[in-house]
Amino acid sequence: MIPFVDLKAQYASIKTEVDAAIQGVLDSCQFTLGSEVARFEEEFAAYSGAKLGMGVNTGTSALHLALLAADIGPGDEVITVPFTFVATVASIYYTGATPVLVDIDPRTFTMDPACLEAAITPRTRAIMPVHLYGQCADMDPILAIARKHKLLVIEDAAQAHGAEYKGRRAGSMGDMGCFSFYPGKNLGAYGEGGMVVTDNAEYARKIRMLRDWGAEKKYEHVLKGYNFRLEGIQGAVLRVKLRHLEAWTEARRAAAARYDRALAGSGVATPVALAHNRHVYHIYAIRTTERQAWMDALAAQGIQSGIHYPIPVHLLPAYADLGYKAGQFPHSEQAANEVLSLPMFPELTSEQTAEVGVAIRRLAAGKVAKAG
Ligand SMILES: Cc1ncc(COP(=O)(O)O)c(C=O)c1O
Repeated sequence: MIPFVDLKAQYASIKTEVDAAIQGVLDSCQFTLGSEVARFEEEFAAYSGAKLGMGVNTGTSALHLALLAADIGPGDEVITVPFTFVATVASIYYTGATPVLVDIDPRTFTMDPACLEAAITPRTRAIMPVHLYGQCADMDPILAIARKHKLLVIEDAAQAHGAEYKGRRAGSMGDMGCFSFYPGKNLGAYGEGGMVVTDNAEYARKIRMLRDWGAEKKYEHVLKGYNFRLEGIQGAVLRVKLRHLEAWTEARRAAAARYDRALAGSGVATPVALAHNRHVYHIYAIRTTERQAWMDALAAQGIQSGIHYPIPVHLLPAYADLGYKAGQFPHSEQAANEVLSLPMFPELTSEQTAEVGVAIRRLAAGKVAKAG
C-alpha cells in the first residue's frame, strides 16, 4: 500500500523532539499564543524572507485578516483564480468584498497575468495569486500590473512554504503572504494553523489585534476582531518541524525528479516547473483524460491518489452567486477535469516512486493501445 501522504512516518522520524516540545508547552501552560508561537513567528518570517510574522488559527484566517488589515471590504473587488482550494475565494467573501476571477496558465496551473488587466475595474483593490501545488505564480508581471494600477498583492502561499521565484521566497514578494499549516501541508501543525508574513509594521499591528479580539491591551477593543489565535502547542510543534523543512523539501523535489524520469517518454503530462522557480511539490499532479479509470486501477494496486481540485470555484454551487458560467475559464475547467495527484511526501522511497511510475506507464500504454 502506498499512501497519498504519510504523516505517521514523519512523526516517527521526529518523535523525540516533538514530544519534548509539546511537554514544554504543557509545563508552561502557554496554550494560546505565548513564547513558542512568538519564536515560531520570528523563525518562519525569516525563513520566508519577510520581517514580521503573525500566527493565526488557520490559513483561511491568514487570508481573511490580511484583507481586513488592508481595509478591504464591501464595495471592493479582489482578483484571484477559480482553480484553487475554496478557502481563497471564501476569505474574500468573508470581508464583504467581491471575488473577481481570472483564468490560469495551463502549464503551471497558476494565475495567467495576461488575463489581469481586463479584470481590473475602479473597484479593484487587490490581486491574490495562488502558488498552487508549491510553485509560485508568475509574480513579476503580476507585481508590475499591481504597481501600475495601485493595487495590493496578497499571496496565497498556503501550499508553498519555501518555494522561490527568481530567488525570492513565496510570501515575501507581495504586500502580505499567507500560509496554512494544515497537517498535510509541507509544514504541517498537529492541528490547525496559519500565518501572515509581511514587511509592513502597520499591517502586522492590525493583524495582531484582529486575531485577538481587536484589542491591543486586554479588554480595550479598538477593532471588531476575532478569536483567530495560534495555539501554543502548534507553535512548539511547528518550530521543531521548521528545522527539518529544507531537508523535507529537497526530499520532495528528489521524489518529483524520480517521477519525472519514470514517466519521461510515456506521453503522460507531468508537472512543468519553470526554470526560475523552486517548486516545493506540495502536490505532484499529472494530467489524464481517463482520470477515474486510472484512479480505480491505482487503488486496485494499493496506490492512493487524489484530485486537487475536481470543481473550479466558479462552478461550485456555493459560489453560483458570482454569476460565472461553465466555459468562462477553459484552462481552469480542463485542469479540474484532468489533474491527478500522485503520492507525494518527503519519506516516499525510490521503490515507491518506481512502483507508481510503472503503474502509470502501464495505464498510459493501455490507453494508447485502446485509442489505436
Ligand atoms: C490554496 C489554499 N488556500 C488556502 C487554504 C486554507 O488553509 P487552511 O486549511 O489552513 O484554512 C488552503 C489549504 O487548506 C489552500 O490549499
